[in-house]
Amino acid sequence: MKDDETWIPDRTDLDWIESLSTPLKETLIEIEQAGEPEGIPIVSRDSGRVLQVLAAGRRRIIEVGTAIGYSTLWLALGQPDDGTIVTIDPDSSRTDRAREFWRHAGIADERITVINARALTAFGQGEPALDGPFELAFIDALKPEYSAYLEELVPRLAPNALVVADNVLWSGRASSSRPSDPEDENTMAIRSFDTALLADQRFHSTILPLGDGLLIAAYRG
Ligand SMILES: C[S@@+](CC[C@H](N)C(=O)[O-])C[C@H]1O[C@@H](n2cnc3c(N)ncnc32)[C@H](O)[C@@H]1O
Repeated sequence: MKDDETWIPDRTDLDWIESLSTPLKETLIEIEQAGEPEGIPIVSRDSGRVLQVLAAGRRRIIEVGTAIGYSTLWLALGQPDDGTIVTIDPDSSRTDRAREFWRHAGIADERITVINARALTAFGQGEPALDGPFELAFIDALKPEYSAYLEELVPRLAPNALVVADNVLWSGRASSSRPSDPEDENTMAIRSFDTALLADQRFHSTILPLGDGLLIAAYRG
């Protein structure tokens, strides 16, 4: 087999792409630096850049799992200037910090609505801010609930909307490229979410092996 056929991109390639990309907004670096020592899990910078591209032209976005607002900010920076985002996270100590970061980045408060609740509770209660149609939905909260988030989101999707989900490779445990506990709830949930969504006829879907794995699904409804 030729070398070219077995080559897969590595960190050097990702760093080279980063070196060609537009300079990072200062607030994004601040969020990265704030999150790291506290172990707050946020999307990788590469995945953030993908979110920014996917948000282009999409005025209404919904996100499940805000944390301190890193992925939300990438999405907001990719959207048109009048775009809006509804983002859900029960942890208001995190989302209050997120709001400060968004302000610092020059994002008007009215563009981002935070729902401080568990996502499935908020969906079940018919929270009006969660009424669709949404043109992009980003899932990044509790792994065992990913499939349930998807089913709540589908009726709220606009035609041709995108659904994006993070951590779908689960550090190699989903595919078993790294050893995994066969009983681990998160691994089983992610594996079953990936398997079902990639075969789901309502979507065209694939997984980008970036960060911890970014699933992208285009709604055909
Ligand atoms: C991986 S972090 C989100 C990171 C964020 N998307 C980013 O990349 O900047 C997951 C977040 O989900 C939140 N979360 C936990 N349970 C949740 C639930 N039931 N519904 C919505 N969010 C939840 C946690 O508080 C945490 O901040």
